[in-house]
Amino acid sequence: MPQRARYLFVCTNRRADGHEKGCCAARGSEAVHRALKEELKARDLTRLHARACTASCLDQCSTGVTVLVEPDHFFYGHVTVGDVAEIVDAIATGGRVERLVLTAEELAQG
Ligand code: FES
Repeated sequence: MPQRARYLFVCTNRRADGHEKGCCAARGSEAVHRALKEELKARDLTRLHARACTASCLDQCSTGVTVLVEPDHFFYGHVTVGDVAEIVDAIATGGRVERLVLTAEELAQG
């Protein structure tokens, strides 16, 4: 398969219930990953434009669901299934969804 222009790494890390850091899986990241894959496929963007992959903890737990976009090298945070269409719109146009991009301040908090 060809190398895609972008890879979306969706944290699907799961911690035990009640863990102080929480986790992206408990916030619905597995559904976000599935929805990203489905939306990319529905728009025929999977072959060249982007691939949605699962990832272990990206160390941005407090702002999860976390999605790392490479090679652009930025994080989306607080992602829900409701954001997926907008994220894929951005993939199709080479842009990004600014309201979801984690700020330097948020990144520092982890
Ligand atoms: S649990 Fe998802 S970033 Fe840490």
